[in-house]
Amino acid sequence: MNINENIFQKGEKLSFALRELYAGAGFEPYRMSKFEEYDFYARNKDFLVSDNVITFTDTSGTLMALKPDVTLSIIKNSTDEPNICRRVYYNENVYRVSAGSGAFSEIMQAGLECFGAVSDDDLFRVIGLAAKSLDVCAGGGMISISDLSLTEEVISEMGVCASAAGKLLHAVGEKNIHEIKALCDAEGADCEKLIALTSVHTSVENAEAALREIFDPYPQSEHFVRFVNILSLLAKSDVSPMILVDFSVTDDVNYYNGIVFKGYVEGIPGAVISGGQYDKLMRKMQRRSDAVGFAVYLDKLERIGTVRESVLPQGDMLNIALPKGRLGEKIYEMFAQAGFECPSILEPNRKLIFENPEKGVRYFWVKPSDVAIYVERGAADIGVAGKDILLEYEPDVYELCDLDRGKCRMAVAAPKGFEDDGTGTLRVATKFANVARKFYRSRGRDIDIIHLNGSIEIAPILGLSDVIVDIVETGTTLKENDLEVIDNVFPISARLIANKSAFRFKNAQIESVVEGMRK
Ligand code: PRP
Repeated sequence: MNINENIFQKGEKLSFALRELYAGAGFEPYRMSKFEEYDFYARNKDFLVSDNVITFTDTSGTLMALKPDVTLSIIKNSTDEPNICRRVYYNENVYRVSAGSGAFSEIMQAGLECFGAVSDDDLFRVIGLAAKSLDVCAGGGMISISDLSLTEEVISEMGVCASAAGKLLHAVGEKNIHEIKALCDAEGADCEKLIALTSVHTSVENAEAALREIFDPYPQSEHFVRFVNILSLLAKSDVSPMILVDFSVTDDVNYYNGIVFKGYVEGIPGAVISGGQYDKLMRKMQRRSDAVGFAVYLDKLERIGTVRESVLPQGDMLNIALPKGRLGEKIYEMFAQAGFECPSILEPNRKLIFENPEKGVRYFWVKPSDVAIYVERGAADIGVAGKDILLEYEPDVYELCDLDRGKCRMAVAAPKGFEDDGTGTLRVATKFANVARKFYRSRGRDIDIIHLNGSIEIAPILGLSDVIVDIVETGTTLKENDLEVIDNVFPISARLIANKSAFRFKNAQIESVVEGMRK
């Protein structure tokens, strides 16, 4: 049968090309039903990206679900294979809540899994196939690889409490050096090794030397030896130019352990491949075998060349989102002093985009609360956002530097003399609903959030709320409205943030900005 390949849609072509790649590497096709009993996901919901699963009742009255994940079903239907390694690939639709709209969407996913007796060679082959998947789908890209057990081991040596350990791992994932320092200062722990590990961003060829500099003596743990061995296998392979060692890949410690990796393609803001060793998940599902695998997000990859790109020429320009207003002007001064000036920005006009091709920078003025969105979605490579916005929206970005400007604090305030007696529901007016929810959840206090967009101080005066959660800078607004701070939530300052994909593809430019700003 001869089929004209022009009739295939882009996503279909990609999935056929991947099937060919995986079948050619000796992986068997794995097919499964679109449905699972809901109870299966209810028992394993820790491993799902979201708690939201589409359910329906089948003809016998059993509550069923449309599959939100493939790996869980493969493990469920697998038998323990202590002596052999089973290698399978799949191409299935999964049903998830879309991050943007909150609506359910059907996502085409391809991927592969190895389970049973997984050898170093299997791990090496899986990572190599992840790199080749990027080649097949996008003509290239980058795989960032790390070892979660190693990062967890360094954190555990620091002897900090469990909650600080979780926060440290999160900070490693954000490349947030200042947060690591602050957490270690608070715990009286030495942060040097963890900071060195977080700063690693190097080729596989140079990784061993970088690790030797951090670890002296070299750890003899089984996973460390395995990691170094895999790196040396990768260094000798044809995919080595596509592999970078970067310990900020720290995803989902419930699911993964050991070697984890993510794949990036230039121009796509987030990871398009995610994978790693998931022995931990296997144990939790009562399997003794080990496992490694990855998923390719075809929905993201099929956008290449189909979405409308920026009308501005990209070249090597670094796109920088600055917060409009007085703080933004001070921040621009910092960029200019760091050697990235753009004189046209000072001209009196209402333009919003300015560039200096000589310095390779393009600045845009955006609303301060929008900077994180521009950066997370890749319209800006880097930007400057307040910690309040980062904690409210939790964008998936790197937080590279505390700029020590725009200092203020998030606080709870109330009319003078107000005391929360802990009874009834506390009515909280705020622009920062997530921040307020998390703060009161940590105290076990039941609250009702009243989301407002400004002039929050009026709410308790008019009886709309009992308290407010808001930014306090000089304290004048509170004072002049007879309110006072009753709790401090966290200090705020401006942070330099970067898109995770741009950090890989424009690394030299971003690092030189960070270095200039730190000085
Ligand atoms: C912020 C904040 C407070 C005020 C605090 O408001 O929401 O109202 O600044 O500053 P102060 O402690 O120095 O008095 P913003 O100016 O952003 O206006 P808004 O009312 O629109 O939120």
